[in-house]
Amino acid sequence: MARITYIEFNGTAHTVDVKPGNSVMEGAIKNNLPGIDADCGGACACATCHVYVDPAWQEAVGERTDMEESMLDFAENVEPNSRLSCQIKVTDALDGLVVRMPESQH
Ligand code: FES
Repeated sequence: MARITYIEFNGTAHTVDVKPGNSVMEGAIKNNLPGIDADCGGACACATCHVYVDPAWQEAVGERTDMEESMLDFAENVEPNSRLSCQIKVTDALDGLVVRMPESQH
């Protein structure tokens, strides 16, 4: 299991265990966390699972894919550490990961 902390825009933090193999988005949805909509169900086709990866974790999480890069054009307030959480696969190496949610996914 990887322990992941999701921080809402208002600062409320939720730390949950996410099974390796799931995406960071699935970890939020399965735990009913607010702040990630995931309208397309993880197909990299909606950009409503936008998160900001904590700078300390950016290298471990890795780079955006080309498809993700194009979808992020539809997200608001994109920053260098923006990712689509459905495209981040959870592994044991991401135990302790911290992501922040944007103010809105729409
Ligand atoms: S859930 Fe739609 S792009 Fe991630």
